[in-house]
Amino acid sequence: MNAFLTHLRSQLQQRGPMRWAEVMQQALYHPQLGYYGAGPRTLGRRGDFFTAVQAGPLYGRLLAQLADQTAASRSAANGFTIIEQGAHDGQLAQDILQHCQHPYLIVEPQPAMRQAQQQRLADFGTRVRWVERASDIPAQAALWICNELLDAFAVHRLQWSGGRWWEMAVQAADHDGLQWNLLEPDAALLPLLAAHPGPWLEDQCIEINLAALHWIDEVAQSAFEGLICIADYGMDEEELWSLERPKGTLRRYQQHRCDDDLLKELGECDLTSHVNFSQVRRRATEAGLRVRDEQPQGIFLTHLAKPWLGSLEGKPPDAAQAALLRQFHTLTHPSQMGSAFRVLTLEKEALTNPICQQAAATHH
Ligand SMILES: C[S@@+](CC[C@H](N)C(=O)[O-])C[C@H]1O[C@@H](n2cnc3c(N)ncnc32)[C@H](O)[C@@H]1O
Repeated sequence: MNAFLTHLRSQLQQRGPMRWAEVMQQALYHPQLGYYGAGPRTLGRRGDFFTAVQAGPLYGRLLAQLADQTAASRSAANGFTIIEQGAHDGQLAQDILQHCQHPYLIVEPQPAMRQAQQQRLADFGTRVRWVERASDIPAQAALWICNELLDAFAVHRLQWSGGRWWEMAVQAADHDGLQWNLLEPDAALLPLLAAHPGPWLEDQCIEINLAALHWIDEVAQSAFEGLICIADYGMDEEELWSLERPKGTLRRYQQHRCDDDLLKELGECDLTSHVNFSQVRRRATEAGLRVRDEQPQGIFLTHLAKPWLGSLEGKPPDAAQAALLRQFHTLTHPSQMGSAFRVLTLEKEALTNPICQQAAATHH
């Protein structure tokens, strides 16, 4: 039994069943024993999973261009900054910083991640700063980027049984094992469940990402103004909670193998679920943010890449350009990352706007 499971079992034996959201939070973010707790994981081919960042530096280069465009369209009275949350080992930050001149602010609550990012980004000196949470961000114009952040938040898991919802919890079983248990759902989940009447299959499972909704509130209440780009895989609620997904979308990843054996090797594998973009958009609007745009990643990046693609027309690409074109294909082709991933762009005005202040106060 690994160290995290020993720790979890001893908590379960003392406290009884724990809601899955709490188990997942600890399995991913326990400061020493969680999957992300001890610092960055190896991502990409040699790691457990692959993100757009590992496709190569083109992704960062295109986002740097987006930052230039965003900065040009905003008043720079308080300066312009790129904000990133979910920066992991700092690879995307490095790729972006190499292609633009803007200052960069990383929101990073985990000391081990921050240390690794500081090492990697040392050459950029004071252009890069860190804050622990969104509420520490100073008033300024910014482009806020997060790639695969929301899919990594701990989610509540629910099961439809006997004509009603139950919240799934974990309890200790014989022989060092773990097993599922069912509890009354957390009260905060009830309005979100009521918004979708079904139909449901007996034992159908769904997830609710309350942490993503709290994160939207935090973004809405922070002092910056500008754009928030959320790049992630996910769907609208109709599709996500349809009868075609009776087990929901929670999965564990280990060395590029993916399954729903969620209680196995907790602490040693990544856990992730699809983003419910309908809920995120709804909460953003309620919190005073404006939904500016939502596109499949392929279309979003193709638009940004137009000037570069145009510059290649009529010339055979050299080896460096050919490598970038391969990255472009991985990021944008519908059979790769082009259509399963979306980019939702929200817009936030400065909190001096009374509508934003009112919405922020309502959700505090
Ligand atoms: C799936 S990984 C994505 C890493 C990177 N953005 C990429 O696309 O390659 C999720 C990352 O989100 C980070 N994370 C989760 N919750 C966070 C939070 N509240 N603030 C900052 N980072 C967070 C994790 O530590 C992890 O590095």
